Amino acid sequence: MKHNPIGVFDSGIGGLTVVKAVKKMLPREDIIYLGDTARLPYGTKSVDAIIQFSIEDTQFLVDRGAKYIVIACYSSASVALDVIRKEFSVPVIGVIQPGVRKAMEVARTGKIGVIGTSLTIYSGAYEKAFKELGARAEILGRACPLFVPLVEEGWVDHAVSRMVAQDYLEPLKKDGIDTLLLGCTHYPLLMKVIRDILGDINYVDASTEVGVELAQNLRRLGLQNPDGMGSTSIYLTDLSMNFKEIGERFLGEPMKNFSRVSLKRYDEKSSHGGKEAK
Ligand code: DGL
Repeated sequence: MKHNPIGVFDSGIGGLTVVKAVKKMLPREDIIYLGDTARLPYGTKSVDAIIQFSIEDTQFLVDRGAKYIVIACYSSASVALDVIRKEFSVPVIGVIQPGVRKAMEVARTGKIGVIGTSLTIYSGAYEKAFKELGARAEILGRACPLFVPLVEEGWVDHAVSRMVAQDYLEPLKKDGIDTLLLGCTHYPLLMKVIRDILGDINYVDASTEVGVELAQNLRRLGLQNPDGMGSTSIYLTDLSMNFKEIGERFLGEPMKNFSRVSLKRYDEKSSHGGKEAK
């Protein structure tokens, strides 16, 4: 099993930021990545739809022998982590808890801001995770739905992005947060714009923390690959316009090994749940 790949999925190609961090931490591990580009965005859809899509994404990676699943999509991790853990026997890590642990470590005044898609923020997943980890901090969530299309458009340092960011982030600034959790795959690319508004506070991008926790978990479970090639195979449900250009922005290197795939439909009436897809 230790020679098997790590499976990472996201609604699109933003999750390649997590792949980049995992590769840095675990250079010998082979990675298979699934981006559900045909159904992007997840962050504006219903909880039920995202649970179904996340089960189908996981099934795809499990069918290809994934030894560990990384939910790189914050929207999926917010609403589907528990279901995926219940439905599949493979170990799973999401992007919410590692970021929360880091935020608790660095926050000073007890006011922590969290930004994410509408689904992530309204799901209450962050409040729940902070509570479960025993945080006493005040959590101030803010949905920033326009950030995803702005990043996809490449407007990472554009006047329009600045105006939008000003509107979204001003209330957090007024509230005096000292730490901001970037709860979405796309937001690290807007870091310059965000920092210009919120200034010198702590910023937490969970991808590094996911890499660290994943390495610890693989070691603990005896699943670390001692002699892998560090390959990355990318599967996308649609090779949409500009996907390569956008993907390379997230991955930070040329995107080579990619192909288009279709996913098996999950039948929610199946008593086997995610363990059996049609
Ligand atoms: N990957 C999603 C997330 O991190 C952002 C894009 C989307 O809405 O699907 O929440």
